[in-house]
Amino acid sequence: MSAPQTYRVKSFGCQMNVYDGERMGELLAETGFAPAAEGADADLVVLNTCHIRERAVDKVYSDIGRLRRENGSVPLIAVAGCIAQAEGEEIMARAPSVKMVVGPQAYHRLPAMIARASAGERVTDTDMPADAKFAALPARRRSGPAAFLTVQEGCDKFCTYCVVPYTRGAEISRPHADLLAEAQRLVEAGAREITLLGQNVNAWAGEDAKGRKVGLDGLITALAALPDLARIRYTTSHPTDMSDGLIAAHGEVGKLMPFLHLPVQSGSDRVLRAMNRSHTVESYLRLLDRVRAVRPDIALSGDFITGFPGESEAEFAETLTLIDAAGYAQAYSFKYSARPGTPAAGMAGQIAAEVMDERLQRLQAAINRGQLAFNQASIGRHCAVLVERRGKLPGQWLGKSPWLQSVHFFGDAALGDIVMVELMSAGANSLGGRIIPT
Ligand code: 5AD
Ligand code: SF4
Repeated sequence: MSAPQTYRVKSFGCQMNVYDGERMGELLAETGFAPAAEGADADLVVLNTCHIRERAVDKVYSDIGRLRRENGSVPLIAVAGCIAQAEGEEIMARAPSVKMVVGPQAYHRLPAMIARASAGERVTDTDMPADAKFAALPARRRSGPAAFLTVQEGCDKFCTYCVVPYTRGAEISRPHADLLAEAQRLVEAGAREITLLGQNVNAWAGEDAKGRKVGLDGLITALAALPDLARIRYTTSHPTDMSDGLIAAHGEVGKLMPFLHLPVQSGSDRVLRAMNRSHTVESYLRLLDRVRAVRPDIALSGDFITGFPGESEAEFAETLTLIDAAGYAQAYSFKYSARPGTPAAGMAGQIAAEVMDERLQRLQAAINRGQLAFNQASIGRHCAVLVERRGKLPGQWLGKSPWLQSVHFFGDAALGDIVMVELMSAGANSLGGRIIPT
């Protein structure tokens, strides 16, 4: 078989996978591949998978099937990401067309794997070397106006429903100096906003240039000193790791955007204990009070799970109460999905699918009401919008407000501009505005 020439990376799941997918693309470009044109066949396809909830595995097998071309040939296929980590052996056994299985901590070794796979071998690499990966990746050369930067990976929290501690491994923090260097490269490549990513991003810890121990707030302060970087965000956080310093940073660092994604999962203390969440409803609400004391306009986001084993109707109702009490600008909600190997999968009281569905609908209705109310309350505000994309209509632009709302408007702007916009209309998912002439 001759060596492949073009590649496509298809990422599923969280923003960390999007980041990994971009880095794999850069690595492949460095190795001599070209990205396949939109809609064209690629010689090499990387499926960068997510294992957080069910159906994902089935979807990967159907995606693999769909890669077969009309003449029966298949591209060189690599399965990457968390399913590769968790179920690599099964994939190799069930899908002969897959030639490479590569875990999220091993993808820097893709070029060597491709060389072996092109010579006819089938190669699996699901090692978890500590942080060798980032050092082995090429420097960043391209970026849109809003970039992702993974600063922390893995999780030591072991929530009883979650596979992440098993698929992504233990918490590691990338070094301060490496992150400043990567951020600088992203800014030179056109980024105006950087979102710091980690499964538990607020557990990031490191040493600054002077050798002082610093947390995420110290990293954010150092990044805020990059002159051409206008905005900093971070996601996703665990309530237990919201340090005093990080809370204070929301009041002190102007470039840190007024947005906080702080998953709570449930509004019932009994369910939170069964989830091994190390916080209560009360401690979560007090934490929000402290954040809002320094940044009253902060937009709150969260994650919720309905139908955790043993969740009663009354406990679910407590989650609805919490949603009203906390006030979310947006939130993600999921039906509980039993993940093989996690403690919750073996718990008594697994909830029927119809009950979960019905609770999810009520939960989403509550979240949507909050989201619409938050957006409607923004009407009349004048705010800075980072222009990220062209809109669907001629002359229309799409950007983000400081509160991470999608804003569309018409007028004289360019990608990467930060323009002042008056917010004039609001739906649940986006706002319309007009540029304020300066
Ligand atoms: N079932 C349903 N939702 C889950 N999440 C994580 N594991 C599961 C699971 N087994 C959700 C949590 C987490 C988000 C990333 O995904 O809400 O915060
Ligand atoms: Fe999963 Fe809990 Fe870790 Fe989040 S904090 S990644 S939900 S184990």
